[in-house]
Amino acid sequence: MSTETGPESRAGAFRTKSVEQSIRDTEEPEHALKKSLSALDLTVFGVGVIIGTGIFVLTGAVAKENAGPATALAFVVAGVVCGLAALCYAEFASTVPVAGSAYTFAYASLGELPAWIIGWDLVLEFALGTAVVAVGWSGYLRSLIDNVGWHLPAALSGTNDVTGFGFDLLAFLLVLALTVVLVIGMKLSARVTSLIVAIKVAVVLIVIVAGSFFVKASNYDPFIPPSVQAAGESGLQQPLIQALFGYAPTNFGVMGIFTAASVVFFAFIGFDVVATAAEETKLPQRDMPRGIIGSLFICTVLYVAVSIVVTGMQKYTDLSIDAPLADAFKATGHPWYAGVISFGAVIGLMSVCLILLLGQTRVFFAMSRDGLLPRFFSLTHPRFRTPYRATVLLGVAIAIIAGFTNIEELAVLVNIGTLFAFVVVALGVLILRRTRPDLPRAFRTPLVPWLPIASVAASLWLMLNLPTETWLRFGAWMVLGVVVYYAYGRRHSRVGRDERGGDLSA
Ligand code: ALA
Repeated sequence: MSTETGPESRAGAFRTKSVEQSIRDTEEPEHALKKSLSALDLTVFGVGVIIGTGIFVLTGAVAKENAGPATALAFVVAGVVCGLAALCYAEFASTVPVAGSAYTFAYASLGELPAWIIGWDLVLEFALGTAVVAVGWSGYLRSLIDNVGWHLPAALSGTNDVTGFGFDLLAFLLVLALTVVLVIGMKLSARVTSLIVAIKVAVVLIVIVAGSFFVKASNYDPFIPPSVQAAGESGLQQPLIQALFGYAPTNFGVMGIFTAASVVFFAFIGFDVVATAAEETKLPQRDMPRGIIGSLFICTVLYVAVSIVVTGMQKYTDLSIDAPLADAFKATGHPWYAGVISFGAVIGLMSVCLILLLGQTRVFFAMSRDGLLPRFFSLTHPRFRTPYRATVLLGVAIAIIAGFTNIEELAVLVNIGTLFAFVVVALGVLILRRTRPDLPRAFRTPLVPWLPIASVAASLWLMLNLPTETWLRFGAWMVLGVVVYYAYGRRHSRVGRDERGGDLSA
């Protein structure tokens, strides 16, 4: 019994899972998810996860330390990188409509080991991303409850430079609560998400519209601050590109825009999560591309507008690190707006956390269903039809990470993992076009091969602008992943088992 024919019948670590097999697996009743989402649900889903800590928190630090008012250009650069990747993601998501995002796509095109690597990488992206956003949320919530005179003890307010080591109780509880929501079911979380997304978008629009009345033209001068020597940065904190070419570390200037782009890239993470919900979409061939590209476009426009307004309201050197959007309103004498924005951020960041957690459990689910992780995790709940075992395991693990997380270092680690996934997806589009030109593609990436090649180059460029130590941490995680694959996944893989079955009967 041979499961594959033609160019896909490769053995061992580069064996591929055929697209038809991927789709068939989703039809096994005890491993099936409910198909209930439309293009609008997906766009809401996308906007729900994309707008979050990136724009609400990181904008301030990046404007202050790397790019000044030119942070708006950094958002454009990061948006273009994501746009290129989105056009590749959309082709894959509309061709291979099963749970698991880039992992599934890589399994159908590049082979099992690359797929495992990408799945392992997505675990890093989503798990740490969830933790980062939970910690950002907890910060905003603490600032809100401080306003009404309640104060959480420092030891339960997370790790920071002032209090030293601590446990972030609120972030921990948030992740646990969202885990329960996900176990109960997709429909409930989609409904809650829609409401939250509406509040979040309204708050972003308030920043843009109300803030534009308080802009001072002098704050835009200089728009691109001249480059300065970075004080006190060791070689490891320096962007890899500077370390490789032996530059002295610098901030600002034109290179500062790219450094800023590699950080604010975090603000765009999430449109790829839309692709992880393909299996739960009614008409994935039509709705996936609409959902992914639509949500990315909306967010890019909003980010550019917000960063232009905020750097116009306050001199970039004076922006706050923790709550720059709200504090810009306080600085211009409008605390009422600041309160509304903080409230919206608290609500909005919660939805980001929820959807990242959802994406994470779906990737884990897909890997488990394929036997690369224990199959125990991929059985769905008899009543809720959700992959509850993976959800509970990951939810608890992420809650603990969130409790002890240092937000900034983890954010860039999330970025490098995501950019790496983009590289693999763009290569996957090229490979699948050659190996399976026959597959129906509801959405075709334009300008192949040039657009995917540009996507690979753009993602690699942003990766090179990330700190050297981020590359080292990422490398260590990936090496660990390869070890786990050879110790477990390679022997338990379903595709591998079918392959061996074929050998026996031959
Ligand atoms: N893009 C999401 C955020 O900014 C992850 O929080």
